[in-house]
Amino acid sequence: MESGAAGPVAQEVLAAVDKSVCNIPDNVLAKVDAKLHNAGFHPIATIKERIVAALPAETVVVDALSPVVSTAANFDSLGFPADHVSRSKSDTYYINSETVLRTHTSAHQVELMRAGHRQYAVFGDVYRRDEIDASHYPVFHQAEGVQLFDKEQLAATHDLGSEAAIGAWLEADLKGSLLKVVESVFPGELEVRWNEDYFPFTHPSWELEVLYNDAWLETLGCGIIHPDVLTRGLGADAAKRSVGWAYGLGLDRLAMILFNIPDVRLFWSTDERFHNQFTSRELVQFKPYSKYPPSYRDVSFWLPAGDGAYHVNDFYELARTIGGDLIEDVALIDEFTHPKTGLVSHCFRINYRSHDETLTNEFVDSLQHKLRIAVVADLGVELR
Ligand code: DAH
Repeated sequence: MESGAAGPVAQEVLAAVDKSVCNIPDNVLAKVDAKLHNAGFHPIATIKERIVAALPAETVVVDALSPVVSTAANFDSLGFPADHVSRSKSDTYYINSETVLRTHTSAHQVELMRAGHRQYAVFGDVYRRDEIDASHYPVFHQAEGVQLFDKEQLAATHDLGSEAAIGAWLEADLKGSLLKVVESVFPGELEVRWNEDYFPFTHPSWELEVLYNDAWLETLGCGIIHPDVLTRGLGADAAKRSVGWAYGLGLDRLAMILFNIPDVRLFWSTDERFHNQFTSRELVQFKPYSKYPPSYRDVSFWLPAGDGAYHVNDFYELARTIGGDLIEDVALIDEFTHPKTGLVSHCFRINYRSHDETLTNEFVDSLQHKLRIAVVADLGVELR
């Protein structure tokens, strides 16, 4: 990784890098200081402001915490088991063995409770290794809300005689509060449904789905904060006297839907034809501008033998490391097991397309050539 003219978060990452562990490619490092949720009239910032406007006035809004967090904050403090998949290097960006780019804004729950906050919403950029397509990007944005209550006070003011009554009241308060937020973000009549869900840091847990253009859309996860999380945040005594609820909500997909933006990568475009369309907090409908032509290239290879030697995310990310945002799409178009050797082959089709210019064949060939060399060197595969 190169330091270049890196911003403060990139500097923080670079200062902590353990080269033998770090799996953050340059194109992701280049995004860590972007803070689209605080960027003027960017659609992500407008969705954030619409949520903030719907929160109770007492809510403390936190939107400038560094995405560089410890594995303790991101996973341990929330009760993720030691062998949970989301801890793996194929899912999470590690800076060193104890420091990651946060995978969710829940990473700040315990820290903010320790700082004395009882009613807050934290907005931030979050990072996950993922495939490449129009709805997946390794950087996206979340809102995380927490509301704590003193049990005795709650029982007295709402006449709640038992733990069960407190639990039922909390559930109703959580669902009512979140409905208010979602209804104010989506214009018009809304049909919603609650499904039971599972998170290690809440119990019980739910997800809220919204019916939008005839499809059920998952908008948020939430639940009653797990007592162990309260104990870590408040200390054992105060935790016994407290209860609370929490939720986490993704901003990017809401922005895509409400502004009619067909591709997440447009959020990261530097093209003025994108940014000039957003000059207020209105939910204006995005007007597509002409795309430059696509160029397709295929690559096929035999995977290394042995479990865990190769993960498809490794290929997606290697492609992104080399092609950056010039890769519109990577699709696994063929998978084949050799009848004699038992070796597995993958064939990927890569769509190279720029948001800013027409790519020449020579240039696309040179990218594809680099990718072919890199898959052999970095992934240990054998080209076919
Ligand atoms: N952190 C979860 C995620 O990224 C979302 C979430 C679920 C946050 C439940 C919460 C919660 O605070 O209570 O998928």
